[in-house]
Amino acid sequence: MDSFLIQGGVPLRGVISISGSKNAALPIIMASIAVDDEVTYTNVPDLRDIHTTIRLLNILGREVGLEQGTVRVKNGVLGMEAPYDLVKTMRASVLCLGPLLARLGEAKVSLPGGCAIGARPVDQHLSALEKMGAVFDLENGYIHGRCPDGLRGAQIRFDFPTVGGTENVLMAACLAKGETVLENVAREPEIVDLANFLIRCGARIEGQGTTMIRVQGVDRLHGCTYAIMPDRIEAGTFLVAAGVTGGELLLKNCPVEDMSAVVDKLRDAGMVIEETEEGVLARAGEGGLRCVDVSTRPHPGFPTDMQAQFMVLMCCAQGSGLVEENIFENRFMHVQELVRMGADIHVTGSSAMVRGGRRLTGAPVMASDLRAGAALVLAGLAAEGETRVQRIYHVDRGYEHLADKLSAVGARIRRVKEED
Ligand code: EPZ
Repeated sequence: MDSFLIQGGVPLRGVISISGSKNAALPIIMASIAVDDEVTYTNVPDLRDIHTTIRLLNILGREVGLEQGTVRVKNGVLGMEAPYDLVKTMRASVLCLGPLLARLGEAKVSLPGGCAIGARPVDQHLSALEKMGAVFDLENGYIHGRCPDGLRGAQIRFDFPTVGGTENVLMAACLAKGETVLENVAREPEIVDLANFLIRCGARIEGQGTTMIRVQGVDRLHGCTYAIMPDRIEAGTFLVAAGVTGGELLLKNCPVEDMSAVVDKLRDAGMVIEETEEGVLARAGEGGLRCVDVSTRPHPGFPTDMQAQFMVLMCCAQGSGLVEENIFENRFMHVQELVRMGADIHVTGSSAMVRGGRRLTGAPVMASDLRAGAALVLAGLAAEGETRVQRIYHVDRGYEHLADKLSAVGARIRRVKEED
C-alpha cells in the first residue's frame, strides 16, 4: 500500500487545473448501459473508481477504450450480473441496477456493503424501482431484480434527497413506459450533468437540479459524445489548500457556480476568493483565518464531501467552530488522526467542536476513506515537520494525480511504497 510523505509549512503558489468530476463521471459512464450505441466521454478523470467502472462494464460485456481522459464504450451484448468482488471495491457499482433493469428487464447486483463512513443502504433505490414494476429478491448477498414486462412510469417521492437513488431511478425512467415524476430528488450538479448526458442521448427529462424531475420514457437511447463537468469537491479541496498553507492558488476549470455554499463559508472564515478571467484565485485574507460553524446539507447546502477538508481549515484558524455532519452517520474518522497532529477537536454525536489557533505538527496518520485522506494531506501540508499519510489508495479513488498537482505549486510531497 502506498503512502504520501509530506514536509509541511510551504505556502502553495501557482496554477492548478481542475479535473473532471468523479461523482459525475461514475453515473454518466454507468448510464452507457442504457444506451444501445457507442458512447464517447471526454474530460474523464484518471481515477481508481473510473477504472473500476470500466472493469464493471467489461464484465457486463461492453468493450471500453480509455486513453488520455477519453473513454469510448462500444455497443455490445449485455450481461446482467455485477459481482461481489467488484462491487465491494466501489459502492457506486449499484448504479448499474437501474440501467440494467431498463435495458434488459433483469439485473443481479451484489448488495453493496457499508463503508467507513456509514451503512449506506440502498432501500430508497429499491422501493422506487419497485413502484416502476421491478420485483427484487435478496439471495446470497445479491439483489436480483426482474421486470419481465419492462419498467413503467410512476409517481415517486424519496424520503430524503438521495444522490445515488435519484441517479439510479432517473436512468431507469428514461426507458420506462410512460411518465415518471420524481419528487424530493437530489439537486446536486452531478445529477444535472447526468440528466444533460441522457438528454443528449435522446431522453426526455425536465426539472433536473430542482426538487422535482419529470421523465417521459422513450424506446431507445442513441450514442453521443459528452464532456464530464469539472469536480467541485476537488476544487474545494484546493481552495482549502491555499488557505491552510498561507499561499495563493489559481484554479482553472473551477465550477465556482456550483460551489456557492463552500465559497461563502470559506469567505466567512477569512479567505479571499476572487473570480478572474483566468480562473478562481484563492488565498487567506490579511486578517488571517477564523473559525465558523458549518452544517452539511444536501445541495445547495454545504456538501458533506467537503466536511473533513473544512475541518482542517478550522484547525488552522483562530477561535472555535462547530462542524455538524448531517448526511452520514460516521464521517468523523479523520478527527482522531488530526488530534494526533495536535488538533483540538471534540466529537459529540454528529457534531465536532474544533478549537483552532494551534500549529499542527507532522505525524504518521492513516486515511480511512476518500475525503478523510484528502483532509490528512491538507493537514500535512499545513503542519510543521513530516507527515506520512498511509493507505492513500482511498485518496487515489477521487483525486487525479494529487501529488503531481500539489508538487507543481510548491508542495514537498511524494508517494512512497509501504510494505503491505
Ligand atoms: C453520493 O453518495 C456520493 N457518491 C458521495 O460522495 C456523497 O457523499 C453523497 O452522494 C452525498 O452527497 C457518488 O456520487 C459516487 P446518498 P450516495 O444516497 O449516492 C442514506 C465521495 O466522497 N441512504 O445521497 O451513496 C445514506 O446511507 C462520496 O465522493 C439511505 O439510507 O449518497 C447516507 O447516509 C462519499 N438509503 C445518505 O442517505 C438509500 O437508499 C446520503 O446517501 C440511499 C441513501
